Amino acid sequence: MQMKRRQFLSRSLIAGSLAATEFHQNVHAADAAVPPSLTVGEPLVAGPDSGNLAILQALSGPASGYIEISINRGEWQKVLPEKQGMVAFESHVLKFRLPPLPAGAELRYKVTVYSVQYASAYKIQRGPHATSVEYLIRCLDPTRKTTQFVVWNDTHENAKTIDALHQKTSALKPDFLLWNGDQTNDVYAVEKMANQYVCPAGLGIAAHYPLAYLRGNHDVRGPAARYVEDFTHCPGDDFSHAFRSGPVACLTMDTGEDKPDSHPVFQGMVHFDAMRARQTQWLAKVMEEPWFRSAPYKLLFCHIPLWWTVDDPNREYYNCHKPCRMAWQDLLRKGGIQMILSGHTHEPAYLPVTDQRPIAQMVGGGPQLERATIMHAVADERHLRITMSRLDGAVLHDVTIHPV
Ligand SMILES: [Fe+2]
Ligand SMILES: [Fe+2]
Repeated sequence: MQMKRRQFLSRSLIAGSLAATEFHQNVHAADAAVPPSLTVGEPLVAGPDSGNLAILQALSGPASGYIEISINRGEWQKVLPEKQGMVAFESHVLKFRLPPLPAGAELRYKVTVYSVQYASAYKIQRGPHATSVEYLIRCLDPTRKTTQFVVWNDTHENAKTIDALHQKTSALKPDFLLWNGDQTNDVYAVEKMANQYVCPAGLGIAAHYPLAYLRGNHDVRGPAARYVEDFTHCPGDDFSHAFRSGPVACLTMDTGEDKPDSHPVFQGMVHFDAMRARQTQWLAKVMEEPWFRSAPYKLLFCHIPLWWTVDDPNREYYNCHKPCRMAWQDLLRKGGIQMILSGHTHEPAYLPVTDQRPIAQMVGGGPQLERATIMHAVADERHLRITMSRLDGAVLHDVTIHPV
């Protein structure tokens, strides 16, 4: 739900935990005039690892700002959206990169935005400030014995589906939300990207728990697809990253397009072969790290599944990504990945281990309300249980994994 300007302001005043001077400046500035809201929707926290978090705020027009964070009820600290010595002044989204936070920390945060007028080099004027309500998230903690998380896939800008997924997810209060690709249909205009990635359907999809972002093949389509990183956050190169929540180690990898780089539709404008080679090197390295090796449960998330119900040689990128499978499967087996969670086919499926398929795979549904699915995973010392349901609650698959 899009937060109204008045609500944004008045609830921030109630929160009232700013340093005194800054607080009073804000009150006076805000009282002086109430400009049209510069913010759209709620902030989005993405990482999801506590060492690599960023907070994004969608904007309705050119603005700058800062966030304030308090860790474990400590003093409020200001974080600027600094890049190469400059404070961001953006039209569509502000991205604040947080300093590394302790695992399991309680993070409180507030977002402040303001307009800026550049009259000359010696006359820069800041407009009235608007400060958000105070938000609270609990950072992921690899040492905890339990965790639970939610997975979405292939929402393709379908507002009704995103709304239903968001309602269910909010009720579950997960440790993190993983959005497994195809957030969009294509990416042609930066003006649309905040709504596509930061506050889809105007919803604060990850204001109260962190998002793990994963790109799908539709998110690489269009000239503005080169700016996806500005509208979300993922700590690794190539949208591949690794993190641990309680007993579950998670790897996310980017399967790129569903056609070879040489396909004539691309006109030479993609080079996913190179990205895949870098990810293969990264995979070999990350699986040797102690935090990963010691995890009782190990999962891989990738948008295009590595196997499908049939292995059609004419569709070896489309149904499932055979080049990624060939590049990664031996490493994944060696590293002990127990299940792959994917989307892309718009047809939910659970593919257990067979002689031809050494790793089990769960694949989520499509963008329409009746085709969409939600995955909910709950892990403790005894087992990791992953349930995939329709949005009407009908359970499609309920799979239990035991510790390695
Ligand atoms: Fe899709
Ligand atoms: Fe897809």
